[in-house]
Amino acid sequence: MEDEEGPECGKPDFVLLDQVTMDDFMENLKIRFQKGRIYTYIGEVLVSVNPYEELPLYGPEAIARYQGRELYERPPHLYAVANAAYRAMKRRSRDTCIVISGESGAGKTEASKHIMQYIAAVTNPSQRAEVERVKDVLLKSTCVLEAFGNARTNRNHNSSRFGKYMDINFDFKGDPVGGHIHSYLLEKSRVLKQHVGERNFHAFYQVLRGCEDEELRKLHLQRNPALYNFTRQGAGLSVLDTDEKSHHQAVTEAMRVIGFSPEEVDSVHRILAAILHLGNIEFVEVEEGGLEQGRLAVTEEVLVDHVAELTATPRELVLRCLLARTVASGGRELIEKGHTAAEASYARDACAKAVYQRLFEWVVNRINSVMETRGRDPRRDGKDTVIGVLDIYGFEVFPVNSFEQFCINYCNEKLQQLFIQLILKQEQEEYEREGITWQTVEYFNNATIVDLVERPHRGILAVLDEACSTAGPITDRIFLQTLDTHHRHHPHYTSRQLCPTDKTMEFGRDFRIKHYAGDVTYSVEGFIDKNRDFLFQDFKRLLYNSTDPTLRAMWPDGQQDITEVTKRPLTAGTLFKNSMVALVENLASKEPFYVRCIKPNEDKVAKKLDEGHCRHQVAYLGLLENVRVRRAGFASRQPYPRFLLRYKMTCEYTWPNHLLGSDKAAVGALLEQHGLQGDVAFGHSKLFIRSPRTLVMLEQSRACLIPIIVLLLQKAWRGTLARRYCRRLRAVYTIMRSFRRHKVRTHLTEMQRRFQAARQPPLYGRDLVWPPPPAVLQPFQDICQALFCRWRARQLVKNIPPSDMAQIKAKVAAMRVLQELRQDWGCRRAWAQDYLSSATDNPTAADLFAQRLKTLREKDGFRAVLFSSHVRKVNRFNKSRDRALLLTDRHLYKLEPGRQYRVMRAVPLDARLSEEGRDAAGGVGMLLGCGACLTPDPETPPPLPAAAQVTGLSVTSGRDQLVVLHARGYDDLVVCLHRSRPPLDNRVGELVGVLTAHCQGEGRALEVRVSDCIPLTQRGARRLVSVEPRPEQPEPDFRCSHGAFTLLWPSS
Ligand SMILES: Nc1ncnc2c1ncn2[C@@H]1O[C@H](COP(=O)(O)OP(=O)(O)OP(=O)(O)O)[C@@H](O)[C@H]1O
Ligand SMILES: [Mg+2]
Repeated sequence: MEDEEGPECGKPDFVLLDQVTMDDFMENLKIRFQKGRIYTYIGEVLVSVNPYEELPLYGPEAIARYQGRELYERPPHLYAVANAAYRAMKRRSRDTCIVISGESGAGKTEASKHIMQYIAAVTNPSQRAEVERVKDVLLKSTCVLEAFGNARTNRNHNSSRFGKYMDINFDFKGDPVGGHIHSYLLEKSRVLKQHVGERNFHAFYQVLRGCEDEELRKLHLQRNPALYNFTRQGAGLSVLDTDEKSHHQAVTEAMRVIGFSPEEVDSVHRILAAILHLGNIEFVEVEEGGLEQGRLAVTEEVLVDHVAELTATPRELVLRCLLARTVASGGRELIEKGHTAAEASYARDACAKAVYQRLFEWVVNRINSVMETRGRDPRRDGKDTVIGVLDIYGFEVFPVNSFEQFCINYCNEKLQQLFIQLILKQEQEEYEREGITWQTVEYFNNATIVDLVERPHRGILAVLDEACSTAGPITDRIFLQTLDTHHRHHPHYTSRQLCPTDKTMEFGRDFRIKHYAGDVTYSVEGFIDKNRDFLFQDFKRLLYNSTDPTLRAMWPDGQQDITEVTKRPLTAGTLFKNSMVALVENLASKEPFYVRCIKPNEDKVAKKLDEGHCRHQVAYLGLLENVRVRRAGFASRQPYPRFLLRYKMTCEYTWPNHLLGSDKAAVGALLEQHGLQGDVAFGHSKLFIRSPRTLVMLEQSRACLIPIIVLLLQKAWRGTLARRYCRRLRAVYTIMRSFRRHKVRTHLTEMQRRFQAARQPPLYGRDLVWPPPPAVLQPFQDICQALFCRWRARQLVKNIPPSDMAQIKAKVAAMRVLQELRQDWGCRRAWAQDYLSSATDNPTAADLFAQRLKTLREKDGFRAVLFSSHVRKVNRFNKSRDRALLLTDRHLYKLEPGRQYRVMRAVPLDARLSEEGRDAAGGVGMLLGCGACLTPDPETPPPLPAAAQVTGLSVTSGRDQLVVLHARGYDDLVVCLHRSRPPLDNRVGELVGVLTAHCQGEGRALEVRVSDCIPLTQRGARRLVSVEPRPEQPEPDFRCSHGAFTLLWPSS
């Protein structure tokens, strides 16, 4: 135990007392209470004393100190019990329950709220929205249920007038995923009447004092509770620290958070108002001289209007239900039977009680519908585990005790019985069974009292039921007489009849039960009536037919036809008994944790511990016996296999599996290794551990090893995952490989199919479409396409006669430089090249040209004529002249057609030729019109410029026949090919082609430029030449303006 509490605070566990006597027990309780230590353990049972003041024991910090700790690590606290229940549930996947018991005002409800807060605080670290919602509803539901089910009593200003058992469902991670509230026996008679100093349910005062004026007006209510019969008694009383208005707001807000719609909240307010109005309705029998003799009437009819309006039912029907009842006569005939004033009042009260009870049940069901676990499948989500929290009304003794107190005290007897069963009896029985040496502890077993109440046929409830079901006027008095007859010898039952000298009981009215918690005298008045719990069917039908859906939903039994014969409904007593039996069964199936609440004084004040009062509670709660059993007993017991499963990793002999003869022997070895064998006892099938310290020690050494085991498991699992991944990856690659292979094969097959006909001349597969290749074959396909093109070209070229080869080469050369740059370059024509020798092209002067050629061939020794044509040229004096152009494999000649094609200029195609020309004087003499010569004179030829040669030519992109020939050392020659047959034949491409091909053959580059505005140089001056298409132009001619030439081209 952590040393937060010094010895001056007393013993934190009553088990540690030196002597187990009542005096020692009370002494310790007192010391602790005075030091503000309101919690003390008896083993795992928590004893809590109501401090009646706010202590700094709660809140997030305190929660953090208890979270994940063992019960004994910190000072005793509710949080420790909540934590123990939560951990037991998580560790062992066992359902647990926390049973909070104690008399009225002992602090049960407060304790249950702290437990809820703890559970809400330590769960859902991942903030899942659904879990947050459930937690919100769990926390808020308390506020709403307290408003409708709690009231101020003389014993407790916020006394629960109903029993509450709340199940919280957890998923495998330990987060709350839903819940369910069971409510037990609401003390509905409180709606009608309260003892002096007590109040009706809080909800009525909250509506009256908390609603806005406007809403009150709509409800026809006034703020003063003294104006209503049902709230008059408590009108002057308030609840401790209560501001009714803020409570009203808190409840309305809580309802909103839970999921009540605004319409539903309005309906709830209307129903509460209707009950208040109903309480004020009174009846008179109309006297003689009135409207109708002897007829019953309502004193204030406006109240009927209000009730009708608020319950959304027809006014006449409300009035009829209040004044009369419908009965089915034998022949299924319906007759209306008027009430007497007393009957009417009774019916009104029954109705008011029933409406409130249904309202309360509806609120509980509505909360449950919001909290229920949704969409959970145990196969997918794992089994839900449950923590139940029971906060049920405490044992009660009033000056006058009625049916409700009887039920409440019976309930407490049942719970005490369960406590005895689980903590005292079962424990001792188990020691015996397991063969553990044990000294029996005596305790009072209240089974006989439980039996007195619930025994079939003779028990008080059975006698009461019989009285209710017997025809004829059975009175409460007769019921009491029957009880006296049956139980005259019962040690726990007495009455004035049986004990005439006892004047504390009234003759013919009271009986007394010696409860485990003390004697309670019950007045039988109203027992039969309350047990029968009768309400006329007319009211049920009326409310079922309400147009308010909320109210209608509370009365499904109003649907039933009046003539329908139904089984007698179970009485209130039997229903309660059944619910108690079910509750106890439910609790017994769970691992219980107990909180035993003690009320320190009757005055509800802080720091006062009324010893007599507390002694009494300690005695009847059986706390001393509890301590004795605990001291003699063991903190924990576990079957050997389960113990091993949990702790086997802490010992080398047991991890991972032991080889010893039995689990028991293995457990022995384990404990010996830890040196704990002195603190345990070995039963036949279970190990009993005496002190929690031992358990804590084992837990700690287990906790140290868990990370290592987790690592081991993770390692193995990660390995498995990696191997699985690797296998998948391999499979993926195999599939990919096969698929690729398949794609390649398909592609190649397709190629083969398509290209089968590729060898066929004359197209050689020209129009074949290549199938799109798979990505992997793209480079292969590129190479194939290139190869195919070459192969096809080869096939085509192979068939060309050698004589055409020069032309083909020229065309290819032209294509390279002109394609896509010039519109038409005449590739589709046959290129005749030497047009001036052609009789078609040059019919008049072909012979003259032939002679000139002969002369030139002898002089210059050329081998072939590359090109010849008539041209129109423009010179630097802007004069246009007709000339002829001759291109041989050695020179470019400008000839004068009018003078037998006399050579006007000869430019060597290659610079080497110009060297030769300079050396050979004769040759030079023939080279006319060169370079600087302004007026060429054939007799005195100018010297050739050094390294003179044709360097390039420029053409336009159009269809015109303009050519500018560039030569190093010469003016650029601007000509337009013309006088061709057919006229305007396109021969520029041919000139470019043959010259380029020739230069390529010579191994040098020729510059070919395509431009629509060609720059040129003449005598050092830069000029431009462009083309202007002119439809009316008869034949091409040059024009000069502003120093630029324009070829006027006869465009058609
Ligand atoms: N731990 C606590 N700290 C401060 N005050 C407390 C504590 N427990 C109880 N009280 C005070 O005691 C009053 C009564 O407590 P509570 O309503 O829980 O009693 P109960 O056992 O539920 O009674 P009943 O059986 O009548 O419902 C509370 O209103 C509160 O003022
Ligand atoms: Mg309570």
